[in-house]
Amino acid sequence: MENKIKEIKRSAFEEIANAKTSEELFELKIKYLGRKSEFNSILKGLKDLSGEERKTIGQLANSVKGEISGLIEETERLLVVKSFDPEKEKIDVTIPGRKMKKGHLHPLSIVRNEIEDIFTAMGFEIADGPEVETEYYNFDALNMPKDHPARDKWDTFWVKGEEGQKERTLLRTHTSPVQVRFMEKNKPPFRIISPGKCFRNEATDARHEHTFYQFEALVVGDDINVGHFKFLAQQFFSSFFKKEIDVRVRPSFFPFVEPGFEFDITCTVCGQKGCPVCKGTGWLEVGGAGMVNQEVFVASGYPRGKYQGFAWGFGLERLLIIRHKIDDIRNFHSGDLRFIKQF
Ligand code: PHE
Repeated sequence: MENKIKEIKRSAFEEIANAKTSEELFELKIKYLGRKSEFNSILKGLKDLSGEERKTIGQLANSVKGEISGLIEETERLLVVKSFDPEKEKIDVTIPGRKMKKGHLHPLSIVRNEIEDIFTAMGFEIADGPEVETEYYNFDALNMPKDHPARDKWDTFWVKGEEGQKERTLLRTHTSPVQVRFMEKNKPPFRIISPGKCFRNEATDARHEHTFYQFEALVVGDDINVGHFKFLAQQFFSSFFKKEIDVRVRPSFFPFVEPGFEFDITCTVCGQKGCPVCKGTGWLEVGGAGMVNQEVFVASGYPRGKYQGFAWGFGLERLLIIRHKIDDIRNFHSGDLRFIKQF
């Protein structure tokens, strides 16, 4: 046994010393140390030897194995050094460099960051919720029970659930479900914003997109009123558009607010004189808002009538469309670099 190991060592050393390429070396590694090598079968056979023999042979075998693999490694290094050809490796440092292309944030991310900065400076927290939402948070908890016709306002992508799944899931149609998710875990007073992606099962055109960003704000306390909403909206839009902006509210209906309204801002292009952008009205439609319906508070676990608050929501794209006079909402998700690079 001992002689055999020594013989293997001798022939391995000889062959390794004669190897000319890395490929040859690799073959030798397999031949001498691989799973099917003679060496390996000796190591496997150790268990059949008597105690004393197993010890001496085992030690010898292991040290020879170490020597062979050490030699292979070293030879590999030498081969690499030997094959180095300075002619081939020459670098012409005078060739002009290739300019690295630098990317930048998507316009929607830029605006989202900007909005978050404005609101956090005013003491708001940022809340988040899932894009695949349950039917309960997207509708029921927002005062829209099953079969309620108001649900039709939000054309919905339903998610095909798993067999036996208790609750139906969908791609959230607005960021309002975050209101309930946040309130379940937090007690008033608080002010939060929640920007995020929403989805609607709609045919797309220049003004509609199936995937878009919304932005939710929610302020709840003991005596929050519409005046607070109006002031906050004026502050926000004035700092976003960097000019004095006025806000007006018009009555409207959303089941999760009472009273509900839609709100407009003074035209950012003409200030109120009337122009093609505001179609001569002096006002631009921005989003929906209202005083949080007590039903929503109850669904969130608050006592009825104890708190007051307002919520608002609008599309982020809309802000960019107004600011940059973009004529087609589909640009945002088109992936067209000619569009993206302008920001
Ligand atoms: N979630 C509403 C929508 O998507 C907007 C809204 C938010 C309205 C908050 C009122 C209060 O249309």
